[in-house]
Amino acid sequence: MTYEELMQKAIEASQNAYAPYSNFPVGACILAESGNHYCGCNFENGSLGMTICAERNAVGTAILNGERKIKAIAIYSPKQDNCTPCGACRQVLHEFCDSDTELDVIVKIGDELKVYTLAHLLPESFTL
Ligand code: THU
Repeated sequence: MTYEELMQKAIEASQNAYAPYSNFPVGACILAESGNHYCGCNFENGSLGMTICAERNAVGTAILNGERKIKAIAIYSPKQDNCTPCGACRQVLHEFCDSDTELDVIVKIGDELKVYTLAHLLPESFTL
């Protein structure tokens, strides 16, 4: 699957987001080591702290399907260009890669894709 295709899946996932409180839908799509992909969207709650981000929703589905290594993740919000993952999601992504330099984080800026490494977004990351 190309990064363009991965982003298209993230765009489609954002259309199912449940974001009535922030009105900020997000979609994500993970490319796992197996070559399979897994999508997620954010889903909010009236008890606002219980909100789950699109990225962590996608990670949960990948784990459920037996994946342990993430190669890439595309993230999209119709509300914001360059929609990079929040700090909590960066740490969760870190858990499921061999090296932060080998996990690509793909966002959209206008019609263009921009590819970061997780190492760039989460320098000096914590590992237990
Ligand atoms: N959100 C995500 O889904 N991913 C991020 O990386 C940033 C924030 C969601 C959470 C909340 O539902 C809305 O965007 C506004 O913060």
